[in-house]
Parts: sequence; structure tokens; C-alpha cells
Amino acid sequence: MNGPLTILGIETSCDETAAAVVRRVGPDRPGEILSNAVFSQIEEHAPFGGVVPEIAARAHVEHLDGLISRAMKDAKVGWDDLDGIAATAGPGLIGGVIVGLMTAKGLAAAWGLPFMAVNHLEGHALTARMTDALPFPYLLLLVSGGHSQLLVVEGIGRYRRLGTTIDDAVGEAFDKVAKLLGLGYPGGPAVERAAQDGDATRFPLPRPMTGRPGCDFSFSGLKTAVRQLSDGLGTLSEQDKADIAASFQAAVADVLGDRCENAMALASDIIPPGHRRLVVAGGVAANMLLRERLMVSAHAFGYEFVVPPLKLCTDNGAMIAWAGAERLALGLTDPIDTGPRARWPLDPDAAPARGAGVKA
Ligand code: KG4
Ligand code: ZN
Repeated sequence: MNGPLTILGIETSCDETAAAVVRRVGPDRPGEILSNAVFSQIEEHAPFGGVVPEIAARAHVEHLDGLISRAMKDAKVGWDDLDGIAATAGPGLIGGVIVGLMTAKGLAAAWGLPFMAVNHLEGHALTARMTDALPFPYLLLLVSGGHSQLLVVEGIGRYRRLGTTIDDAVGEAFDKVAKLLGLGYPGGPAVERAAQDGDATRFPLPRPMTGRPGCDFSFSGLKTAVRQLSDGLGTLSEQDKADIAASFQAAVADVLGDRCENAMALASDIIPPGHRRLVVAGGVAANMLLRERLMVSAHAFGYEFVVPPLKLCTDNGAMIAWAGAERLALGLTDPIDTGPRARWPLDPDAAPARGAGVKA
């Protein structure tokens, strides 16, 4: 299907309720985002210092219908103008995934439209094609609250995982460190803000996995080191907090840089010159220090550095609509009895990561 495709995309796998309408104009062209409605549940989860699955599922139920109406209205399209409906079918918090998936299936059945069950990670992975019409293959660092992975994106549904976390995701480490330091939720932006006034050299924190072969990540040791450090200091002054935040952020930057450098060296056998691009996606890609560090690494290895605009890095419906459009263009639709999946690795052939808390 090479003609234009207009798709409604629905995202409910974590703490953002989102709906968007995106048009795929044709092959090798960027997508047109006709609308992108996102409701962040941050305020509902903030008192608990993290996402509470049951609260998230209820909030999706409350907000999704309204967001879909808004996305359709903002896009100035009617149901007859759509070519298909896509929804995240996993991985994620299962209660939330069910809300979005059932809604999408109901709408697809009611309007007689093709339905696409999208892997949330594929949504992140293909975003750079929607924004920059990036050709396959490219290298992707996916860093969010739930995932830390390095993948070669070879095609739709074709991913080669080079590395993943063996314990916490990097965003999760930011959130836990923020909680330890009493900086609030979500932790990433709070840590980044605190770090601005901090001395990153005051506390020598560990850089787990650096200097080791491969591309896997580990962040739980770093988080424990931060806890021991702050316990040892007793009552923390604002300056102590800033210095810990800066030292932690510098350690994360070194870990991500080291892992990406290994990935670029490995991927150079797979990705031909002219295609060598390092794409960063996920909420953690918002962090300026990490971006700068990764850009330096990318350029040192002859890779172009690509970061989609921030509101498309964090969870949104446009990335799901786009992944649905890419799949529909290849005739890849899904039956109406497709079930939700709490876990759904992009590369099923990848060796399972060993360690506690492995996500996908
Ligand atoms: O992609 P995302 O919006 O949702 C998930 O799929 O998880 O990512 C959210 C994560 C949170 O852990 C948040 O603390 C982190 O991204 N984050 C950041 C920054 N902004 C958001 N981490 C570091 N620095 C930031 N500026
Ligand atoms: Zn995500």
C-alpha cells in the first residue's frame, strides 16, 4: 500500500494516556502529525513517588475517550477519513494496555477499519522515520523509565538487540535517585535541575559495566552507591544534593557513552557507511548532559546523531499511529482477538538478559 494512509494511534502502556492522528504520505517521506493529544498522569502518581498500576489503569479509562475525540477534532478528520486504527498491545502495565487495546479493537470493529496491534518499543524505534524519514538500518539507544536497550533497527518487525539492562532501566535509576534525595517525581528532570548547581567530581561513583565487552547495562549498583553515599553524609544540604545529582548524572553519561561506543563498533559490521546513525529515544533522551556526551561519542565513531523532538521521545500516540501506518503499508494487520502482552521483546532471538528486574 503506497498511497497516503491516515491512522489513529492509541497509547496507554504506562502513565501517559495518548491519542494521535498521523498521515503516512508515502515511502521514504516523513509523516505528518495531524494531532497529538497527551494526558500525563504525573500528578496522580506523584504522591506515591512512582507509577501505581491500578491508578494508571483507572486514569486511562477516565481520559481515553475524551483524548480520542480531541485527537480526531484537532486533526480535522472524520472516521471515514481513517485507513486504520493502531494501539499499543504491549509491553507495559497490563491494566493500561488492556484499556487502549480494547478501545481500539472496538472502534476498528465498529467502523470496519483495519486494526494494528503495535509493540510500544517499535513505536519508539520508528519515531525517527516519522520525523526524519530515516532509512533502515540504524542504531537505536532506547532509554526510558521502563527500558534501556541498544538495537539495530533493520526493518519493520526486524530488530537485532545488541544490549539491554540486566537490572534497572536508566530512567528508573534517575527516579530512584531523585526519591533518595527528596527531589520529587518524575526524577529525571529533577535530578538534571539539581545537577546544574553541582560539582560532578566531588563524589567518585561507580560506572557499572564500563570497559567490559558487549552492550548490556546495569544501574542498580550505581543506585546503591548513591544510597550509601547519602546515608553516610547524614542530613543533606542543598549543595550535597546538587553534588550527588551531578556526580550521578556524570556516571550515567559515562556508562551510556561506553555502551554506545561498543554498540557502534559492533554495528559497523551490520550498518554500511552512509547509514551510520545513532538515534536516541525515550524520556531520558531529554537530558542535555547525556545528549552532549552521546553526540561526542557518535561523532568520534563517524555516526550521525539523531534525537527526535522531545515530545516525540516521551510516550505519545503519534509514534503508535506511525508504527501502525508503517505496518499497514506492508499489509501487516492484526486479528481482532489479539491479546495484550506485558512482555514483548523486539528481538525474540536475543539471548535473555540475566539479572533481577529484566524488563523485556
Ligand atoms: O519514555 P518515557 O516518557 O516513559 C516510559 O516509557 O518510561 O520516560 C520516562 C522516564 C522517567 O524515568 C523520567 O525520569 C526520565 O524518563 N526522564 C529523564 C529526563 N526527563 C525524563 N531522565 C533524565 N533526564 C531528564 N531530563
Ligand atoms: Zn515508552
